Amino acid sequence: MTSTTKVPFLDLVTPHQELEAELLAVAKKAFSNAGFIGGPMVEDFEREFAAFCDIKYCVGVNSGTDALRFAFMAAGIGQGDIIVTVPHTFIATTEAISQAGAQIAFVDINESTYTMDPEKLREYLEKQCDFDGKSKKLTERKSGNRVAAIVPVHLYGQTADMDPIMELAAKYNLVVIEDACQSHGAEYFSKKENKWKKAGTMGLAAAFSFYPGKNLGACGEAGATTTNDEALAKRMKMIRDHGQAKKYYHDIEGYNGRLDSIQAGWLSVKLRHLAKWNEARRTHAHRYHELFAEAKDSVVIPVEAAWTKGVYHLYVVRVADREALQAHLAEAGIATGIHYPIPLHLQKAYEHLNYKKGDFPVTERVAAEIVSLPMFPQLRQDQLTLVANGVKEFVASKIGATR
Ligand SMILES: Cc1ncc(COP(=O)(O)O)c(C=O)c1O
Repeated sequence: MTSTTKVPFLDLVTPHQELEAELLAVAKKAFSNAGFIGGPMVEDFEREFAAFCDIKYCVGVNSGTDALRFAFMAAGIGQGDIIVTVPHTFIATTEAISQAGAQIAFVDINESTYTMDPEKLREYLEKQCDFDGKSKKLTERKSGNRVAAIVPVHLYGQTADMDPIMELAAKYNLVVIEDACQSHGAEYFSKKENKWKKAGTMGLAAAFSFYPGKNLGACGEAGATTTNDEALAKRMKMIRDHGQAKKYYHDIEGYNGRLDSIQAGWLSVKLRHLAKWNEARRTHAHRYHELFAEAKDSVVIPVEAAWTKGVYHLYVVRVADREALQAHLAEAGIATGIHYPIPLHLQKAYEHLNYKKGDFPVTERVAAEIVSLPMFPQLRQDQLTLVANGVKEFVASKIGATR
């Protein structure tokens, strides 16, 4: 934040100042018994976060990336398997796939929700793969590899459309691991089950990130996997702790991927505020929606589909000439971001996958136009208005210039 910043993109200082006494008490407690790894603070947070998500098990790990990677491993997915996801996500989603030894396959997103398009998933599974009904194995024609899993990403705080994704997964015997790293507390209305379900409870397992800027953020790196599957939770616990369930008895090779006790304690403190913070984000988003109503032809606002209750990790709009908009807002002291400017299939890191421009046109179009506006629970009304006015001024000047 510079001295001329009127609206930061994210204010991480205020909530930590507000909770300082409680957060310091956690550190003091840890210093008093030097219990820095594992122990009651980790177990308490795991129990509390599982309750928040309405799920049986939560296994704390050191990042959202490892929460995903370990979940693939615990589900028995790895070498030679294909995991299907979207190219419009943070690279951690696909890093976890590769680092679990699996291969990445992309399907495009829906243009209004920015999450996995179930029809594109269906097209990929039906047109590019063969299903052997006897062995219940789905094979990608091009590579000859087994398609093992789907990773829908609940991006920007909104869930993917899970009913059709789960239906396809069941039809083709695929595991679903949700990437819920941006969606703590988001909900999905399952028509099939006629009830609202929390993000992170619909697949076999789900990954959450507690990176500081997330809706629930640690004061450092942290993450968790949630699941209703007891055996998977047990394997996750072994994988995060050098493959041991009992000290120095290593059934498998694992990782040093544990959640620190102090981070867990801090997360427990913050978890008590999460519902309130999520509600504040929703209120801010709805205010932005109202303020942009008069500019609806030039500013595409986030669409909250009837089946989702979003928690607005980000408030992402689409405009023409977004770099010029960012410069205009920066001039007015308003910080913005782009999540994400280059689709994953066009990143240098994935040249070897041989995707090309035009393969995922919706993702490419969206990635070229999106801008993330300031969004955090402590955002003030005057700041919201300033941001909206700045955007509206910009789009109005563009219309004026083309007349
Ligand atoms: C969609 C998504 N997946 C995975 C991750 C990885 O989480 P972490 O940074 O905690 O490893 C993130 C974090 O930014 C994310 O946004």
